[in-house]
Amino acid sequence: MSKRKNPSYNGNVNAAFCNFLIELSEYEKNVSRNIHKYNAYRKAATVLATHQKRIESGEEARKLNGIGDKISKKIDEFLHTGKLKKLENIHQDEEAQAVSLLTRVSGIGPVKAAELVRAGLKSIEHLRKYQDKLNHHQIIGLRHFEDFEKKIPRSEIKKVEEVIMKQITSIDAEFTITVCGSYRRGKENCGDIDVLVTHPLVKVVEEKKKPKDQILKKLIDKLNSSLITDTISMGDTKFMGVCRLTNKLPYRRLDIRLIPCVQYYCAVLYFTGSDVFNKNMRAHALEQGFTLNEYSLRPIGVTGVPGEPVPITSEEEIFEYINYPYKKPEERNL
Ligand code: CTP
Ligand code: MN
Repeated sequence: MSKRKNPSYNGNVNAAFCNFLIELSEYEKNVSRNIHKYNAYRKAATVLATHQKRIESGEEARKLNGIGDKISKKIDEFLHTGKLKKLENIHQDEEAQAVSLLTRVSGIGPVKAAELVRAGLKSIEHLRKYQDKLNHHQIIGLRHFEDFEKKIPRSEIKKVEEVIMKQITSIDAEFTITVCGSYRRGKENCGDIDVLVTHPLVKVVEEKKKPKDQILKKLIDKLNSSLITDTISMGDTKFMGVCRLTNKLPYRRLDIRLIPCVQYYCAVLYFTGSDVFNKNMRAHALEQGFTLNEYSLRPIGVTGVPGEPVPITSEEEIFEYINYPYKKPEERNL
């Protein structure tokens, strides 16, 4: 998962409102740790970003789904004064600024950031002198702080994709590989590289049973010589790490997940996102009597208990089952 979401949408006439709403949402998530307010601001920003007409008053905004009294008042304040008192105050608050800054390090969440700030560590340079307070992930996040904030052009991800395809299919031609995330949605610039891999022989592992013959480890070993530079964490099904195509290019965050073949299309759908698109689609699935997640699509019985997963052999089938008009990945940028 990449850290910073870009609030700008192509031709968004309400971009000014979206920018302050996103900033407020980040503040609620990282500093106040109020997930409800975070969701409310994000929802409002998404609604405004897809609204074709430029909003001219709080009252007008209030009519949109997801904008209540408080946010419509902020829109009025912004329209009248060109700024927001609440944001001005946040900008003045040195501790809040420090917490926000530290949460931009990969591996540092809001709780850890607050703890570091309380211990007096308030800048990246400062943190670099006191790395004993950090775990392995956070140390790598800090080492590549500047690089990880750089967006990745899709042309570069395409090359990474080619390397991964070539290396992994040289082990076994039956591997299927899909680069998901914003790249699959056609974005020109992406925050990280999200890769899913499956193989006909990768079955669902029952709990506690010994997993997957170290398949993921073999894949990563293969990529270690050509692409991967660091491992953040390595499990049986999920690798988190760092890659670099050439030494002239920045270091990039790379996640690779090994998925059982029967779950592959639900996983591809889920990890393609966007998260708002997923939320809407899951809600629609429920209305149709299905529960959809990253593993499966299951009908909900009369008793309310989910049944056995529906067999799925393509992403399109998931849409068909729940009567949701098919959207190409490029149309999922909500
Ligand atoms: N996802 C998620 N929760 C996670 C990990 C992933 O919801 N813990 C899903 C989201 O639906 C998201 C997709 O996986 O759309 C990819 O996650 P992320 O990399 O954070 O977002 P992108 O859309 O790829 O955007 P970015 O360019 O910032 O990477
Ligand atoms: Mn991503």
